[in-house]
Amino acid sequence: MCGIVGYVGPQEALGVVLEGLRRLEYRGYDSAGVAVRIGDPAAGGELATARRAGKLANLEKALAGQPLPPSTIGIGHTRWATHGGPTDRNAHPHLSTDARVAVVHNGIIENFAALREEFEARGIEFGSDTDTEVAAHLLAAAYDDLPAGPDRFAEAMRAVSRRLEGAFTLVATHADEPHTVVAARRNSPLVVGVGQTADGVPEYFLGSDVAAFIAHTREARELGQDQVVEIHRERGLTVTDFAGTVVEPTAYTVDWDAAAAEKGGHDWFMLKEIAEQPQAIADTLLGRIGDAGELVLDEVRLSDQELRDIDKIFVVSCGTSFHAGLIAKYAVEHWTRIPVEVEVASEFRYRDPVLDRSTLVIVISQSGETMDTLMALRHARAQEARTLAICNVNGSTIPRESDAVLYTRAGPEIAVASTKSFLAQIVACYLVGLFLAQVRGVKYADEVGAIVEDLRRLPEAVSEVLLQMEPVRALGRSLASAGTILFLGRHVAYPVALEGALKLKELAYIHAEGFAAGELKHGPIALIEQGTPVVVVVPSPRARESVHGKVVSNIQEVRARGARTIVIAEQGDDDVVPYADHIIRVPRTPTLLAPVVTTVPLQVLACEIADTRGHDVDQPRNLAKSVTVE
Ligand code: AGP
Repeated sequence: MCGIVGYVGPQEALGVVLEGLRRLEYRGYDSAGVAVRIGDPAAGGELATARRAGKLANLEKALAGQPLPPSTIGIGHTRWATHGGPTDRNAHPHLSTDARVAVVHNGIIENFAALREEFEARGIEFGSDTDTEVAAHLLAAAYDDLPAGPDRFAEAMRAVSRRLEGAFTLVATHADEPHTVVAARRNSPLVVGVGQTADGVPEYFLGSDVAAFIAHTREARELGQDQVVEIHRERGLTVTDFAGTVVEPTAYTVDWDAAAAEKGGHDWFMLKEIAEQPQAIADTLLGRIGDAGELVLDEVRLSDQELRDIDKIFVVSCGTSFHAGLIAKYAVEHWTRIPVEVEVASEFRYRDPVLDRSTLVIVISQSGETMDTLMALRHARAQEARTLAICNVNGSTIPRESDAVLYTRAGPEIAVASTKSFLAQIVACYLVGLFLAQVRGVKYADEVGAIVEDLRRLPEAVSEVLLQMEPVRALGRSLASAGTILFLGRHVAYPVALEGALKLKELAYIHAEGFAAGELKHGPIALIEQGTPVVVVVPSPRARESVHGKVVSNIQEVRARGARTIVIAEQGDDDVVPYADHIIRVPRTPTLLAPVVTTVPLQVLACEIADTRGHDVDQPRNLAKSVTVE
């Protein structure tokens, strides 16, 4: 939610900042803006800025017509609007009244109204409706109040940070600071990149995530909560807490390169990421299975005794990650016999859940920065529950604040719609469930080994599905003008139906609902009219009890009322044939693991429908990849 870039180094800053924004645009695309510091370093300088509502392309077009003067210091922002509409006026950077300070911001400054009143009482006029602008005025005032000195700008940022409430990453440049960009972070992401040019000149980057600077360096520094960072042409990198105490940031090397964040010949990042799913699953399993087929999850830093003491599990997450949790529940309860509750993070902490030291709270987050999930995690920790993060982004806030972490290894996911990270999350949940079963001794080693073998076959099964997607695309094109599409599933196929509906809503902007197939008769069946498309995800005929037969009956029920039935069923399931207008076949997969394969056609379907309707598949309207506000 909002992408932020900062640069200090020998390169032309505008180019570096715009390239960073291009890679961060998935975080928000309501507007974009840049500021560079220009003028002789020895004499007084000034700031040059450009901002435009809409996608980054609008800003780039404006800059092509009216370029900014050359500079080696710059900041940039791509916005997901919270306070103030997505207009030029509200686009970042925001400037102080004297235009000597420029600030970009991600998050929400909760006490902005009181601060704004304070400034307005002093006769300062605001140029935007944002919460951010107060930070620019505060920073200018704090800077002016401090004596000249090398730490002046960073100290001004610390003083401002101490006054702000809420969540913020702030990055700022000052006309009088020819060598420095400063930034602060609380409850909002910020990482530092440390690189050097081909001729060995050091350069420093700031970014909401490493994608901002991956084209220049893979050497990153993790920032902690409530820290201020200064990047300075000569002094390099200095990190302090808000009180000014110097802290050493954690260094790490990003394990993917710029090529991984390119489309690689695909029309959309989403299509590329769908195609990468077999690899994402294989990588998530890699190194986590021992020679005897046992689970080896050394990263799960909870002792065997702690794992044996667990008597209840909560899975807490949002959106697609929430659906991964719903799918996990079936397997984890079945394998471990521990009760599992799955809950959306934004509700979890508000209903006073019963948690204690023997509760395991699993938080699932692709980005590791989702504010609702982070707050739920903190609530769980405050109640002394054990916490385990399943996360795709190394060093992000959620895994850093959890007792234990299991990283999914899906690689960078750029499309706003989660695909490969979702399948990797499901697989990571299976690993956790099996690991618990193994440690607690509720499954024999050979039983664990047999399921592990099934897991190892999943990449191939998904590859097989991907090879048969042409008819699904054609079907998608034929559904592009539908007004409503319903999704049904039972047992493990129910959360898959929910995910199918979510994908369609977010990409195609078509009204879609996912239902437990058995609930249909209790109301939703009234929605069905002649020709309403209904996608039915059919559990395996080998699924528990008679669930398969019941779903086949549900298909008949909707068809009898005029629905156009689109059935996802495994190879050889002939029971569905008489009632299906379209059949999408998937390979035979063990019941509990089937969501990994049945999800894939639904991703492709949503992508194709959105593309046919002329939508930007990678950047759907109103959305952002990482939701860092509550
Ligand atoms: C999925 O396609 C989404 N765009 C969204 O629901 C996402 O899964 C959700 O915001 C959670 O994000 P996270 O996994 O990064 O926490």
